[in-house]
Amino acid sequence: MLRRDFLFRCAALGGLRVGPSLTMADAARGFQQRIQSGTRETAWNEIGPFYKRLAPENPVMRRPGDAGLPLNVTGRIFDTRGNSVQHAKVEIWHADHHGLYDLDGYRFRATLNTDAEGKYRFESVMPGHYPDRVCQHIHYVVTAPGHKPLITQLYFATDPVFEGHPTRNYHRDPLVVSRELVRPVTLMGDPKEIVAEVGFELVLEVL
Ligand SMILES: [Fe+2]
Repeated sequence: MLRRDFLFRCAALGGLRVGPSLTMADAARGFQQRIQSGTRETAWNEIGPFYKRLAPENPVMRRPGDAGLPLNVTGRIFDTRGNSVQHAKVEIWHADHHGLYDLDGYRFRATLNTDAEGKYRFESVMPGHYPDRVCQHIHYVVTAPGHKPLITQLYFATDPVFEGHPTRNYHRDPLVVSRELVRPVTLMGDPKEIVAEVGFELVLEVL
């Protein structure tokens, strides 16, 4: 069944509704064009000087007593055709709450693998600021067979540097080349145990 016919069937069965400004035919045409046009790859960002190979495959980097706001990051890897990328390798590393990188060991460094749906997650703490950089950030290197490697960084909309307006102020850090790398932060849990949750979807270019 064509995707267009599938949409019409969903509408007929009540599983899909379109708003008053759209006809069903317009909505189906727009949806089809959006799928065919694909998605742009995630913006590239500097790798920086603190990358280390062979970080442990441990998504739980946060330990009891670690300073800083607990942070859980979830996301999914897609390609530019909109397909999820399973078994991609996601290497991440960041400074601790005090803005220090572990150069001797592997604290706050991990190698993750996406699951069958292209999803990944890790548990850590919110990185601190450090003198050579303006914004809090987490570094990413994502690799997957058949795709162009992606080097980028995740930033946080709650960073004091943005003063609550990341769209207006993201360029205060000259390395933040794209607003899309700055992600909203959701605070979860109870007042005694607050956890910041952030979603970061990434898109790889197909080779
Ligand atoms: Fe860094």
